[in-house]
Amino acid sequence: MKLNLKIWRQENNKSKGKLRDYEISDITPDMSFLEMIAVLNEELINRNEDPIAFDHDCREGICGSCSMFINGQAHGPDRLVTTCQLHMRKFNDGDTIFIEPFRAKPFPVIKDLVVDRSAFDRIQHAGGYISVNTSGNTQDANAIPVEKKDADKAFDAATCIGCAACVATCKNASAMLFVSAKVSQYSLLPQGKVEATDRVLNMVKQMDEEGFGNCTNTGACEVECPKGISLDNIARLNREFLKAKYKSR
Ligand code: SF4
Ligand code: FES
Repeated sequence: MKLNLKIWRQENNKSKGKLRDYEISDITPDMSFLEMIAVLNEELINRNEDPIAFDHDCREGICGSCSMFINGQAHGPDRLVTTCQLHMRKFNDGDTIFIEPFRAKPFPVIKDLVVDRSAFDRIQHAGGYISVNTSGNTQDANAIPVEKKDADKAFDAATCIGCAACVATCKNASAMLFVSAKVSQYSLLPQGKVEATDRVLNMVKQMDEEGFGNCTNTGACEVECPKGISLDNIARLNREFLKAKYKSR
């Protein structure tokens, strides 16, 4: 395949960025999207030009670092996959592809397609930990009964990989889907109940301090989330937050 790429180039978060045109050929349908960028980067390096900076780590859809906007969609046109799991068979010979970083105020561009998502780390740190007796008498986790339906919901919430597609897609740059997944994965389990009040209050406070917008029930986050995190989690987050506010009065 031969493709026309329009890629966002930006030196750092102080400089102004712009879309630059690149032509690339000999791309096969079996290549992943990141492999396609790697082919372009090899050409750029051979021409003594600066390669495109992009984030990646696992290339297996589990680390959440390969975040980019492709033709106006977070992680591109495929459903329930991250950019590293997107393949060039989703595109046609001669296509023009726009490639941009995830855009949200709390995620400043570091370079080109790489953004600083440490705001998510700070929200998770604010959530803290769960109390586990590690004195040598740790209870076997299987000895604590958990209803199957709760275990399934907690597991589904725990599949959030922190990629930030939900924020980048949301017109308000809201982080509610991410935070709701992190709150839900603990609030549904007995082990997560001890610190539940502090956890939800601290995470929501940190989310607000980082400058994320509020949720207006648009639902774009759920549609673009590569892990299919459900909006039900946002409803649960709201309930947990109200409960915690009432308790802490
Ligand atoms: S909720 Fe989905 S889109 Fe948002 S960070 Fe988690 S995995 Fe990514
Ligand atoms: S590189 Fe880890 S999810 Fe894509």
